[in-house]
Amino acid sequence: MMSLSIVILAAGKGTRMRSDLPKVLQSLAHKPLLGYVIDAAVTFNPEPLIVVYGCGGDIVKKTFPSQKIQWVEQKEQLGTGHALQQTLPFIKDVGSTLILYGDVPLIDHTTIRKLIQKGQTHLAVLTFNKQDPTGYGRMIRESGKIKKIVEENDCDDLQKNIQEINTGIMCAPNALLKNWLSRLNNRNNQKEYYLTDIVRLSIEDNIEVLSESADNEVSITGINSKSELATMERNYQLMTAQKLMEQGVTIMDPARIDIRGELIAGKDVTIDIGCVFEGKVVLGNNVRVSAYSYIKDSVIGDSSMIEAYSHIVESQIGEHVRIGPFARLRPGTQLKNNVHIGNFVEIKNSQVNENTNINHLSYVGDSHVGKSVNIGAGTITCNYDGTNKHQTIIEDEVFIGSNTALVAPVKIGKGATIAAGSTITKDAPPGELTVSRDKQTSIAGWKKPTKK
Ligand code: UD1
Ligand code: CA
Repeated sequence: MMSLSIVILAAGKGTRMRSDLPKVLQSLAHKPLLGYVIDAAVTFNPEPLIVVYGCGGDIVKKTFPSQKIQWVEQKEQLGTGHALQQTLPFIKDVGSTLILYGDVPLIDHTTIRKLIQKGQTHLAVLTFNKQDPTGYGRMIRESGKIKKIVEENDCDDLQKNIQEINTGIMCAPNALLKNWLSRLNNRNNQKEYYLTDIVRLSIEDNIEVLSESADNEVSITGINSKSELATMERNYQLMTAQKLMEQGVTIMDPARIDIRGELIAGKDVTIDIGCVFEGKVVLGNNVRVSAYSYIKDSVIGDSSMIEAYSHIVESQIGEHVRIGPFARLRPGTQLKNNVHIGNFVEIKNSQVNENTNINHLSYVGDSHVGKSVNIGAGTITCNYDGTNKHQTIIEDEVFIGSNTALVAPVKIGKGATIAAGSTITKDAPPGELTVSRDKQTSIAGWKKPTKK
């Protein structure tokens, strides 16, 4: 294929979003709309990839620092044709140019590829037959051949009934495009330089205009308001869920799952309702995630179970691990195989080794916990002295009685037992029972106070 330039139009204000954030930075499944278009564009190896941005565009540029993008500013939004005119210095004389919209995120690659093919020699327009075409430019044909595109605001009553619309996505040979762009004017009801006028100019030049018809409405849908954004979000989530189900994942209700990033799942994975996955999450074989759990940037090993309402961020979980319900694993948590983490347990920046149980109401932070340890209910590692964080080391086969405070830095030796209710401030030797609390006394003959 000849060289391909891609221009993404992203200068529109997006007033209907009623937001300080530019429209193309509004997010769909936690990724800016423009990010989808850039990622899709990159797969076509464009040279160059141009993004036309408008006022307030600095944050747009800063959002995509790593990509090889030729940023072109359109200072005033005088129309789609004017936007394209700004890119002329960067478009090669040979090859062709594909025009995409920064607010149409879910384009279909197969259709676009066909459009690019047609756009090597002719202007090719991506069209769609829309039940309600209101708002869109209409494709005007005579004996089946495209003659022009008429914008909604310039349509007469008859033209308004035409259901074949211009999606806005086009491809054209650079030499022709450059010539047509130099001939645009703004003599229309919106006083805008319409890119769509290049259709009329091609016909004037006796060059046939080709089209490719999209068959999937989502793939050509642009987003203008929060409500459209929400609809698109649900469409996107449903598509993502569908793909996972095709891979064999059991999703209890595909309408009640949110995947904001990449979810990689092994065999026989089950995901109950209301779960949210963010960033990159990997679930091994036979993993079960129960209702209303939130998992971000984590790996869950084979046959592990996440019980309901668990919250897991930047954690590495081994195999046959049981977590929750109501557990919170914060960044830097590493759980080895067969660990059990129960309800209302918070773990942060800690490694917990094989067969260890932390089953109820505990906080374990900045710790290294050995194998086959039992940590009783209400155990707290006091890792913070108000200024610095300190480490707690609990060696293999330790038993920590309930309601123990381990004041870090502190080490509990292998096989040690800590009596319930202890406050441990010094290292506890291996194998021994360490008690650190007042002895229990009872005062004989003590009387309850009487009311005065
Ligand atoms: C345009 C098409 C219309 C088509 C519709 C599809 C023209 C004249 N009309 O309509 O036929 O059915 O898209 O959605 O092209 N933009 C700029 N600079 C500008 C104006 C727009 O970068 O000066 C960008 C916007 O950010 C947006 C895209 O171009 O991504 C389309 O702009 P928008 O105003 O939504 O489309 P219309 O002009 O209404
Ligand atoms: Ca417009």
